[in-house]
Amino acid sequence: MSPPLSSNDIRQAYLDFFRENDHAVIPGAPLIPENDPTVLFTTAGMHPLVPYLLGETHPAGNRLVDVQRCLRTQDIDEVGDASHLTCFEMMGNWSLGDYFKEGAIQMSFEFLTEVLEIPKDMLSISCFAGDADAPKDEEAAELWKSVGIPQERIAFLPKSENWWGPAGQTGPCGPDTEMFYWVGKGEPHDNPGVNEQDWMEIWNDVFMQYNKNEHGKFTPLTQQNVDTGMGLERTAAVMQKVKNVYEIDVLKPIVGHILRLHDDVEEQVSGTVKEETLRHARIMTDHLRAAVFIIGDGVRPGNVDQGYILRRLIRRAIRSARALGIEHSGMLTPAIAETVVQQYGDYYGHLREHEKEIRDVLSHEELQFGRALNEGLKQFQRAVEKAGDTLDGETAFHLYDTYGFPIEMTQELAAENHMKVDRTGFEKAFEAHQDLSRKGAEQKFSGGLADHSAETTKLHTATHLLNAALRKILGDHVYQKGSNITTERLRFDFSHDEKMTPEQVQQVEDLVNKAIREDLPVSYHLTTVEKAKEENAIGVFDERYGSEVKVYVIGNESITFSKEICGGPHVARTGMLGSFEIKKEESSSAGVRRIKAVVEGGPEEIEVAQQKSC
Ligand code: ALA
Repeated sequence: MSPPLSSNDIRQAYLDFFRENDHAVIPGAPLIPENDPTVLFTTAGMHPLVPYLLGETHPAGNRLVDVQRCLRTQDIDEVGDASHLTCFEMMGNWSLGDYFKEGAIQMSFEFLTEVLEIPKDMLSISCFAGDADAPKDEEAAELWKSVGIPQERIAFLPKSENWWGPAGQTGPCGPDTEMFYWVGKGEPHDNPGVNEQDWMEIWNDVFMQYNKNEHGKFTPLTQQNVDTGMGLERTAAVMQKVKNVYEIDVLKPIVGHILRLHDDVEEQVSGTVKEETLRHARIMTDHLRAAVFIIGDGVRPGNVDQGYILRRLIRRAIRSARALGIEHSGMLTPAIAETVVQQYGDYYGHLREHEKEIRDVLSHEELQFGRALNEGLKQFQRAVEKAGDTLDGETAFHLYDTYGFPIEMTQELAAENHMKVDRTGFEKAFEAHQDLSRKGAEQKFSGGLADHSAETTKLHTATHLLNAALRKILGDHVYQKGSNITTERLRFDFSHDEKMTPEQVQQVEDLVNKAIREDLPVSYHLTTVEKAKEENAIGVFDERYGSEVKVYVIGNESITFSKEICGGPHVARTGMLGSFEIKKEESSSAGVRRIKAVVEGGPEEIEVAQQKSC
C-alpha cells in the first residue's frame, strides 16, 4: 500500500490504524464545549474528554481515537504568515488508564514510519527534562532509542516546551514527548533543542498522570493516561511536500479562489503574487474556513461570546477582501464558503447538511457590515488626519457602535497608520453605553485585551520582572521589542541573538519567582525622559513619551530589581503575582526572541501601585 497523501486519506489512515490497534473511533465534538463555560471553543482533542481522563468510565472503552476540529484565538493577529491558523484539525488517540509510554511511543513510531512511510532520519524527538514537579523522562527517551531513534535526535526540554495541560487552570496534565519533522535545508541534523526552526512539531504524546489543583500543586491521577494530538494540516504539508499549510490540498483551492477574484495587473504581468496579497488571501482563507465551522456548529454572529469571535472573523475577512479590491456586497463570503464545504463536506457531513444556512448567515453579515465599512473607513481617515499619534477612545467607540468596527480592527487600522488607539478611553465610552455583557466575552477571549483587570495588571508587573531578569541573566543587550498582554498570558519580545538554553530559561524563571517571594514593593514617580535616563531607567525611548513620564520602581531599600518607564498600572507588591512560569521561548524574528509566560495563584483582588514622592 502506498502512504496516504490527501487530507481525507490521512484522516482515514489515522482512524484505521488506531482502530486496528483496538481503539474505538468516536465522533469529534462540536467546536463549542458542551459542559465548560470557562472557555469559548474546543482547543484540543482532549478537551471533551476531561471527565474520562479524571477517571469517569467512557462508554466506548479505554482506547479512543478521533479527529477534533479545534479553534485557538490567541494568535489571531498573526494569521496571514505561512504557518498560523485559528481553526485546525487535531487527530488524537487516547488511553484511559490502559497503555502508557511504551504503547504510545510504539504506535506513534509505527504510524509515522510504516503508515506514513516517513523515513526515520527525517524525525526527531523531545522529552521532558525534569524539575521539582516530575522527574526527567529517561523512560520515554529509552523507548525512542529502542525503536531506532539515535540519541543525538533526542532533546530534553523544560516544562515550557515538554509539558502539556491542564487545558484550564486546573485538571489533568503531564510531561509530553513531541515528534518533529525536518524542514531545514540539506541533511537533517541535531534536534529541536539545538536548531528549533529547522524542526517542525507534528505530533505530541502527553503522559497525563498528574492533576494540577487550584494551589498549583501536582498530585498523581488515579490512572495513567495518554493524550495525543497530531496536527492534520502540518502532517498534510509533510506528506504533500509543500512549504506551508496554506498550500495543502484542502486549503490551496480556497486561497486560489480568492486570488482569482483579486486581479492585479502588476501581478499578472510579473507572474508573482505580492506578499501582502498572499497575507490577505490567507487571512480570508483561515477566517472564512473557521467561520464556516463555527456557524456549522450553531453559532450566529453577535456581540458576546462565540458570536463576537465569529463576527470578528467574518469582518476581518471582509476587510482583507476590501484591501484586495474584491467586491463584497453579500455574495463573496457565501461563494468562498461553498469552496470550503466542497473541501470538507465529505468528512464533515454536517457542513453539507447546513450549507444553505451557513451561506445565508455569511451573506447577511457581509451585507450588513459591507455597507458600513466604506463609510466607517472614511470616518476613520478623517479622524486619523486630525489625531496625533493616538486615536481617541470616543472615536474608536463611535466606529464600533455606528459602523460595527470591532475594536481590534480599529487597532489594526491604526497600526497600519503608525498610530495607537486609546483603549482605556474606548472601554470607558463602552461602559458608559452599558453594554457590559460583551466585556465578559472578551475576558474569556484571550486575544489582546488591553483592559486593567487584576489579571492583566499582574501580568504587566510580571513583564517588568521578566525584562529585568532577562537583562540580569543574558546581559544588557536585552531590550524590549514588543509586549502583548491578555487576561491569560504575557508575550514579550526582546533583542537576543540565539535561542535561550533550558538552563537560562530556568534561571530567568527562578529569578522572577524569587522577586515574587520577596514581596517587593512597587511604586512610581514622575520625572522627565532625560532624568529617567540619568537614573538608568529602561524603557522604549521614543517619541511616544510626553515631557513627563512615570518611572516604575520594583525594589526595597537594599535592592532595586527593576526600574522602567511605563504608563502602568501595576500591582502594589510583587507577592500578589503568586507564581510565574515561562511557557514558551521561541524565535520571533531575526535577532528577536519571544517569551510567553503566565502567573498563577495570587489573590483575586489586587492593590495598585501608588506614586511615591521623592
Ligand atoms: N493535548 C495535546 C495537545 O494539544 C495533545 O498538544
